Amino acid sequence: MKKSIILIGADSFSDAQVFFNKFEKEKIFIIVDANTNKFCLDIFFSFFPFLKKSIILEIEAGELHKSISTIIALSNQLIKYKAEKQSLLINLGGGVISDLGGFLASILNRGIRYVNIPTTLLSQVDASIGGKTAVNFNQIKNKLGFFYAPSLVLIIPGFLKTLHKNELISGFGEIFKYSLIYDKRMWNVLKKTEFQLGSILEDLISKSVIIKENIVQRDPFDDHVRKTLNFGHTIGHAIESVYFLDSKFNHGICVVIGMICESYISNKLNYLSDSTFLEIQKTLFSKFSLSKINNIEDVLFFIKEDKKNKSNKVNIITISEIGKAHFDVFVSEDDLKESLIFFNSLHE
Ligand code: GLY
Repeated sequence: MKKSIILIGADSFSDAQVFFNKFEKEKIFIIVDANTNKFCLDIFFSFFPFLKKSIILEIEAGELHKSISTIIALSNQLIKYKAEKQSLLINLGGGVISDLGGFLASILNRGIRYVNIPTTLLSQVDASIGGKTAVNFNQIKNKLGFFYAPSLVLIIPGFLKTLHKNELISGFGEIFKYSLIYDKRMWNVLKKTEFQLGSILEDLISKSVIIKENIVQRDPFDDHVRKTLNFGHTIGHAIESVYFLDSKFNHGICVVIGMICESYISNKLNYLSDSTFLEIQKTLFSKFSLSKINNIEDVLFFIKEDKKNKSNKVNIITISEIGKAHFDVFVSEDDLKESLIFFNSLHE
C-alpha cells in the first residue's frame, strides 16, 4: 500500500495547498454529511478558497448510511458529474465518511486519488490513517472493504471545537490505547491530562498519528503487528454492538472497558504483573465514566461473532507491560466472562 502524506495543523496549510494545486484543472468532489456541511465546510473553504469550485456531495449522517446503497447513490452522482480517473475525492467528516469515501475512491475507475480531512478526534487519531476503507453489509460492520490509502490526510485540530464533549472523550479512549500498546512515556503524560482542547491534545494527536503510521507501514495488510491496534477492541466492539443505542457506550468508552478486561486477561495469563495491571485498571476507571455491563451473556455472544476469530477460538491482544502488546492470543470463554464480571465488581 502506498504511503499517505500526513499533515497536521495550520502550519501545514501551505503544503496542503501545494497538493491541491496539482488538481487545478481536474474535477474535485467533497463528501460531507449534514453536520460537516453545516459546521466544517465553510471553515475548510476559508483555509482553501480555491476549493470552493468543488462539487459537494452530501450524505445522511450516521453509521446506518455507511452502506452499499449510499455507494450506489454517490456513484450515480459522480457519473452524472463526469468524474474521471484524474478527479480528486475529498472526505470531510468522521470515520463513517472516510471509510465510505475511501471505499468509493478505491472502486471508481479502479481507483482515484482521495484525501481525508477528519473532523472528529476518533477519526483524526485512527480512522483517517492507514487506508482501511469499508461499508457495512447485512448488518455486519465493515464487511465489504479494501486497503486503499488516501494520497493526503490533513488533520485540522480546530475542527474539534465543533465536537460534543462525549465525542472528545471517545477519541481519548483510542489515544490511551496507543500509549498502552506502544509508548509508556505517553501513558505517563495521559495520566495527568484533562480531556480538553489545547496544545497538549495537539501533541497527543501527532504522537498517535506517528504511532499508527509506523505500525501500518510495518504491516499494511493486518497480517501481524497491525493487529495490536485492536487492543481492547475484541471485547469493546461486542459491548458496542450490545449497547449501540445507548449514548453511555460510545466507541472510545467501549474500547476503554475492553482494555480493562483485556488487561485483566493479560494478568490472568501471566503476561502482565499485578502492579501494572492495578495501575492500568485504576487509571482508566478513574479517568473515564464507565457504566456497568448488565448483559454479559449478550456481550459474550457478540465476542464469538468477531471477525478476527479463527476456528471458533476467540483471539485478543494482550499486553505484557505498558507499551508492549502481543497479538493472536487465544482465550477461553470462561476468561472473557470472568474479565467482564471483574469489570462490574469495580462498581461495588
Ligand atoms: N483501526 C485499526 C486499524 O486501522 O488497523
